[in-house]
Amino acid sequence: MLRLQLTSEEKNMMEGKQGRATQKSMEILVTLGEIFDAKCMIDVYSVQIAGVSYDNLGEAGLEFLSEMAEDGKVKVLTTLNPAGMDRENWEALGIDKEFAINQNRVIDAFSKMGIITTCSCTPYLIGNVPHFGQHIAWAESSAVCYVNSVIGARTNREGGPSALAAALTGKTPKYGYHLDENRYGQVLFKVKDPLKGTDEFGALGKIIGDKLVELGKSIPFITGISSATVEELKSFSASVATYGGTALFHMEGITPEYNKYPKPSDNIFEINQNNLKKAYNELIDVDLKIDFISIGCPHASIHEIAKIASLLKGNKVRKEFWITTARPTKRIADEAGYSKIIEDSGAKFASDTCCVVAPIKGRFKGMMVDSAKACYYGRAKNKLKVKIGTLEECVKEAMR
Ligand code: F3S
Repeated sequence: MLRLQLTSEEKNMMEGKQGRATQKSMEILVTLGEIFDAKCMIDVYSVQIAGVSYDNLGEAGLEFLSEMAEDGKVKVLTTLNPAGMDRENWEALGIDKEFAINQNRVIDAFSKMGIITTCSCTPYLIGNVPHFGQHIAWAESSAVCYVNSVIGARTNREGGPSALAAALTGKTPKYGYHLDENRYGQVLFKVKDPLKGTDEFGALGKIIGDKLVELGKSIPFITGISSATVEELKSFSASVATYGGTALFHMEGITPEYNKYPKPSDNIFEINQNNLKKAYNELIDVDLKIDFISIGCPHASIHEIAKIASLLKGNKVRKEFWITTARPTKRIADEAGYSKIIEDSGAKFASDTCCVVAPIKGRFKGMMVDSAKACYYGRAKNKLKVKIGTLEECVKEAMR
């Protein structure tokens, strides 16, 4: 006997009246709902699916997708996380043919289900944009943290199968971050000194994330930030999600729910210039020889691309330099003339992919980035030595 109450439409799905893939999806969601003690399902406005790279999925993952694609069709707007390669420019980026064939098999299976195959971790910059309070089912950790916190939409961090199941049913079990009572700030961080740039906001995310792990908490409430750009907030979201497993934060004066819940009154920490400097230095390896620069973790915005173009104009790069971004953002950059300036310099766009999910292990020794998240995965996944810097410093390094 289920504790979770299903509507007649949901029962029909469960009984297979809408096809095998929908039935399997509802089974996944009901199991999840029972584990987390959900009382009912809720409709979701959109879905974002992670685990798209063939590097992560392998044949077993592809088999599951192909089975779901036999009769599964999405019921809501659904987009994908970055894949293992740029779908148009993979050869120039050094991806081997066999990988490309397998990656395209994965994308084709998603496409068959009606999923929009823009492969990006910043879907909120390219049209998959929920509004305040809307329930969604997203999977990419940085995007989950961004939409929960900066937009005030509501999502748990979905796994690959549960996100796909939400896409094929338009439903998710109502638990976790969908409920008010689970959105309270737990630890107060008072930032005492000014900070700016994607690199410094990344370092802040590392400090807060590390502290949350130490305390066994997950939702920070941050004061003392006077302003933050979209790019700084996306970098912070990626970093705090990486180092702290955080899916939601509140930032006084900046995020929409900061005054909805009381400020935490115990667990109070101050962060000053010295803490920031220490965290920053921990993102720079010693004995490092940089042969790869990558900007766009999370995927670069059009503002970042415009900035890179202005710095590269009339210059040449001397090292492998990738700008990773969503394909629709790249198309805007094409129209604005930024792409030509960037490509004339020798830098490369890597749309649909990134320096973490692309199979680059062993190709480079040292990577420079403006992202604390890329530092973490550059070390952990691709065994690179890393250095964080400002976007300007990264471009300068590429030209050196
Ligand atoms: Fe996005 Fe790849 Fe960074 S998925 S957040 S660019 S690791």
